[in-house]
Amino acid sequence: MPICLHIINGPNLNLLGAREPDIYGAQTLDDIEAMCRKAHPGVELVFRQSNIEGELVDMVQAAGESADAVVINPAAYTHTSIALHDALRAVGVPAVEIHLSQPAARESFRRRSYVSEAVTGTISGFGADSYLLGLQAALKLAKAHG
Ligand code: DQA
Repeated sequence: MPICLHIINGPNLNLLGAREPDIYGAQTLDDIEAMCRKAHPGVELVFRQSNIEGELVDMVQAAGESADAVVINPAAYTHTSIALHDALRAVGVPAVEIHLSQPAARESFRRRSYVSEAVTGTISGFGADSYLLGLQAALKLAKAHG
């Protein structure tokens, strides 16, 4: 069976490409998904996005059922969501938090991540490459775990 990785994307990431491109880059989420699939043709990738916190919790729970590891860009819920923190801890699937930007170098409200405490590690600040680096890390975790 191929390794299965879930990539979960939070609110407003559906607007990538048009949304503050000076911060988040010119690529759309579809572009980023295509880039991830091209980089890992042998891996089963489930790539999802929602603007709704509860749906993201459902996605984390689904990953707990069928993923070997998770890459998650929780977007603004990074800084607010105890529900996502709890979901990641509850399912116990190895997870990598990623961000396109470097939240620590931005507004002070972005310095707090509730998700960081529930994942193995964080990659941020590399634009769309944060997804590729996150996938590399998740693959390693999946192999070590499984
Ligand atoms: C983000 C950073 C968050 O602070 C922000 O709310 C986002 C995107 C990033 O990928 O850089 O929506 O997660």
